[in-house]
Amino acid sequence: MVDVGPKKIIGEIVRLEKGEAVIQVYEDDTGLQVGAAAESTGRPLSVRLGPGLIGAIYDGIQRPLELLYQQSGAFMEPGIRGERIDPNKQWDFVPNQEIAEKLGRKEPVAIKPGLLLGSVKETESITCKIMVPPTCKGGTLLELKGAGAYTINDVIALSDKEEPFSLAHWWPVRMPRPSARRLAADKPLVTGERVIDIFFPLSKGGAAAIPGGFGTGKTMTQHAIAKWCDADIIIYIGCGERGNEMTDVLTEFPHLVDPRTGRSLMERTILIANTSNMPVAAREVSIYTGVTMAEFYRDMGCHVAIMADSTSRWAEALRELSGRMEEMPAEEGFPAYLPTRLAEFYERAGRVETLNGDEGSVSIIGAVSPPGGDFSEPVTQHTKRFIRCFWALDRELANARHYPAIGWLDSYSEYAEEVKPWWEQVNPAWAVVRQKALDLLKKEQRLSEIVRLIGPDALPDDQRLILVVAEIIKNGFLQQNSFDEIDMYCAPTKQVRLLELMMSFYEKAAMCIKLGAPLVQITALPERERLSRIKSEIQNTDTASLDDFGFKMKKVMEDLERSYRSKEHL
Ligand SMILES: Nc1ncnc2c1ncn2[C@@H]1O[C@H](COP(=O)(O)OP(=O)(O)O)[C@@H](O)[C@H]1O
Ligand SMILES: [Mg+2]
Repeated sequence: MVDVGPKKIIGEIVRLEKGEAVIQVYEDDTGLQVGAAAESTGRPLSVRLGPGLIGAIYDGIQRPLELLYQQSGAFMEPGIRGERIDPNKQWDFVPNQEIAEKLGRKEPVAIKPGLLLGSVKETESITCKIMVPPTCKGGTLLELKGAGAYTINDVIALSDKEEPFSLAHWWPVRMPRPSARRLAADKPLVTGERVIDIFFPLSKGGAAAIPGGFGTGKTMTQHAIAKWCDADIIIYIGCGERGNEMTDVLTEFPHLVDPRTGRSLMERTILIANTSNMPVAAREVSIYTGVTMAEFYRDMGCHVAIMADSTSRWAEALRELSGRMEEMPAEEGFPAYLPTRLAEFYERAGRVETLNGDEGSVSIIGAVSPPGGDFSEPVTQHTKRFIRCFWALDRELANARHYPAIGWLDSYSEYAEEVKPWWEQVNPAWAVVRQKALDLLKKEQRLSEIVRLIGPDALPDDQRLILVVAEIIKNGFLQQNSFDEIDMYCAPTKQVRLLELMMSFYEKAAMCIKLGAPLVQITALPERERLSRIKSEIQNTDTASLDDFGFKMKKVMEDLERSYRSKEHL
């Protein structure tokens, strides 16, 4: 990292050649002159990690935007820094009792990366663990300060070899933080969006992409996940999209309540804003800044989810920077190392055992906005190689106002097998109804092509029933309005139960038709229509009403079936 010119704007050395350094500056470089001094800070581009990150809003190089606003107004001046974490705030430090006692008995305490020194309560819902940084090379602990109020710059522990420890430390953004080992991705990140959780689930520690053309719902989907998913911490990176989308987050999140803790959602969120009108170079770094912060909390045993909106704008920044360095362009002008950079980003997702022996995870959800909604362009194609969950947004669905517009034929998730045991504990029917519903939707696709050619009347009743039930699944299950009071979040139990009810309706109806009942008699049942509305009528917690409906529906259908069986007898 380099301070450039009299204003000391932030720059990074991006190429070293024969004693000559090429520096990329991350701020507006207007007024910079030939002959201006550039001074190395002696460390790679880094972020400061410690308590106080939660609830903050940063730009791509961790400048605290709120603080800068108070200092210099709405327009950032080049070179202005502001402390990355408030240096005056006092935190209540609670030392690790075990270590304190050992030191009290004059027993030696060996230090190693990840050793827990103590903790501070960062927000009501997040406890920040203070640990020996991963770069530590060993030694013994000489002193651990007692409980009390400390700022992030105060010394809290001393060792014989390392620098004194404080509540915060620096970490280079482009270097993944180490962990003890990787764990299987067999726990789902529950998002409360039915089409995601049931059909295309994402694991804690997984990576997903949401590609879609303009206005198909990438931002809305990410917002919905950020609001409701069961991660402990959300890091929302707005890279290169319009500023008002970040404003939405800023105005909405403080008022929203975390369903698990009952506290404001901002108490578990960090925002990183590099909107389209901010310097393009910092946009390139912003996603690394975000992942580094995510790994910091992962190392404390938190489950972190990152939203990046959008990785296409990030790739465009990469293209711009590469162009300036006169590198040989590859596909569509993107640099040849685009796939490597994408891999470096997505590879940092994962569920791990931390150095301290806890379990933590980083899940990454990246929006991709291919020009013209054409998924064959390089960013979407390369992204596909590094993610295992693909939520393809469909223009036709979005136009029909079917939201979330995640197409069920083009999307996929390779985590489905891994999260199956978890879901089967919620409801043993998960995998079965999921597969049946997906098959039914595939059949519907083929049938609707025939219908387009020759009209619905040519189909026999059992096939028309498939169209009817597919309609129920689309309206009553796949569609989920982010603005609906009840349906904005759907609890896991309700999700599986809803689909189970729909599939059982289908099976019972198919039986009746086989016994000779006409389709109209099935479609006239009030239960058919009710199935499409239940999602926004019955509360998440109200399993009794759902069971009650299921019980009544079963009775009605079985009565119908019985009446046809007796006719068959005659
Ligand atoms: N899940 C949803 N529920 C309700 N409306 C939605 C949903 N997803 C998208 N929309 C509608 O689509 C519009 C565009 O969505 P947005 O996420 O901004 O698109 P993108 O980020 O892909 O350009 C939103 O303003 C909203 O009206
Ligand atoms: Mg958007």
